[in-house]
Amino acid sequence: MEKQRYKAIISGENGEASLPILKGTMGPPAVDIQQLNAEHGLLAFDPGFRSTASCQSAITYIDADEGVLLYRGYPIEELAEHSNFIETAYLLMFGELPNKAEYEDFWHSISRHSLLHEQVLLFYRGFRRDAHPMAIMIGVVGAMSAFYHEDMNIQDRDDRINAGIRLIAKMPTIAAGSYAYSIGRPLRYPRNDLGYSANFLQMLFGVPSEDFVVDPVLVRAMDMILLLHADHEQNASTSTVRLAASSGANPFACIAAGIASLWGPAHGGANEAVLRMLMEIEKPENIPNVIARAKDKDDPFRLMGFGHRVYRNFDPRSRVIQKMTREALDHLGIDDPLLEIAMKLEEIALKDEYFVERKLYPNVDFYSGILLRVMGLPMTMFTAIFALARTVGWVSHWLELSDEGHGIDRPRQLYIGEKLRHYPNKK
Ligand code: CMC
Repeated sequence: MEKQRYKAIISGENGEASLPILKGTMGPPAVDIQQLNAEHGLLAFDPGFRSTASCQSAITYIDADEGVLLYRGYPIEELAEHSNFIETAYLLMFGELPNKAEYEDFWHSISRHSLLHEQVLLFYRGFRRDAHPMAIMIGVVGAMSAFYHEDMNIQDRDDRINAGIRLIAKMPTIAAGSYAYSIGRPLRYPRNDLGYSANFLQMLFGVPSEDFVVDPVLVRAMDMILLLHADHEQNASTSTVRLAASSGANPFACIAAGIASLWGPAHGGANEAVLRMLMEIEKPENIPNVIARAKDKDDPFRLMGFGHRVYRNFDPRSRVIQKMTREALDHLGIDDPLLEIAMKLEEIALKDEYFVERKLYPNVDFYSGILLRVMGLPMTMFTAIFALARTVGWVSHWLELSDEGHGIDRPRQLYIGEKLRHYPNKK
C-alpha cells in the first residue's frame, strides 16, 4: 500500500488537521484517519460504513460502477467457467491457484474432515422440527466451538489453517443435517468418493434405502452457486466475523456470528425473499402492482433481488446464475413459470425511471433462488447454502486478519444522549 502525495485537510475548532491519503492497488483511495482522535480530538462519523474502509484486504475486489468482481485478481466469470469451488476456496484462502499436488493435498484434507463428532448429532434433536435451517446452523456451528477449543492454539498458523479446513469440510454436513432433520430424514454421512458439491447433494437428497445417483449438471450448478457466493469483500456478515475474531474468539463461534448476520433479508436471506415475492406475484399481469409498491415511499416493500449496497451496475454474479438456471431448466425439462415472471420483472424494472435513476440492478439473489428451487431445494435452505459457500470467505478473512495480528476492533460513537445529570434525592 502506497501513501499518496496528497493529503486531506480538515478545518476544526483546533485549527487544521492534515491527513495522509492511502492508495490500494485498485479502487478509491482512502483518507487515513487513524490518528484523527489521538492527535486532533475528532471522530469520523459514518453510520452504515458507506465511506469507510474498515480494514485493508487482498482477497476480493469489487468495482461498483463497472459491475466487476475479482477473487484474488481473477474475474468471477472466468473462475465460474474454468475453476471449481474447492480450487477457488484454495485461491481465496492462500492467494494463488493451487498446482496439482497442492490441490490434491487440500482436497484430501477437506474430504477427511467432513464427519461431525457423533455428539454433535445430538444437538439437532434439541431443535423443533420446524426450526429454520439457519437457526439450526447458528446453533450447531456455535456448538462446534466446544469441540475444538482447548486443543487449538489460534496463535499458531497451522492450527488456524486446520480450523479453516474443518469449517469448510464440515459445513455441508451441518447444512444437509439441518435439512434432513427438518423433514424427518436420517442424517447422512459424507462420502469421500464424491467431490464437494456431489457429496453435499447426496447428503441433502440421498436416502439410506437406495443408491444416490449423481446428476453432473446439478453438481455443476451447485458448485457454481457455491463458487459465486464464496466471498464478497467487507459485507455485513464478513465484517461481523472480522469484528468477532478481532477479540481472539474461537473461529467456530466467529463463523456462527457470521451466519446470524447473513440470515437477514437485506443480506443472505434475500434469495428466499425473492422467491416468496415471485410466488406472490403469481402471474406477469401483476408485475406493475409490485413495481408501483416498490416505488411507493409510504410502503416498506422493496423489490427483492434488486439493488446492492455496493454495485451501481449489474451484479456480475447474476448473469452467470441466470445462464446456469436456463441450463438446469433445459436439462431437467422443467418449464418454471417463476423464471418467466422473474425475466419479465427484470425487463420492466430495468426500463423504469425509478430503478434507472437509482442504479438498481438485479443482484445475485434474483436468480439464485430459482436455480435452487429447480434443483429441488426448499426455500428455507437457500440462505443455509449461501452460508455454506460464504464460510470460505469468512475463513479467508479470519486468516488474513489473524496473520496481520491486529488488536480488537472498537468503533466509537457520536453520543447524542443526556449530558451528565445526578440521581434525584427522593427524600
Ligand atoms: N426496491 C425499491 N427501492 C429500492 C431498492 C429495492 N430493492 N433498493 C434500493 N431502493 C431505493 C431506496 O429506497 C433509495 O431510494 P431513495 O433514494 O428515494 O431514498 C435508493 O434506492 C437507494 O437505495 P439505498 O437505500 O441507498 O440502498 P442501500 O444501499 O441502503 O440498500 C440493499 C441496499 C441491498 C439493502 C437494498 O437495495 C435492498 O433492500 N434490496 C432488496 C434486498 C436484496 O435484494 N438484498 C440482497 C443484496 S445482494 C446479496 C448480498 O450480497 O448479500
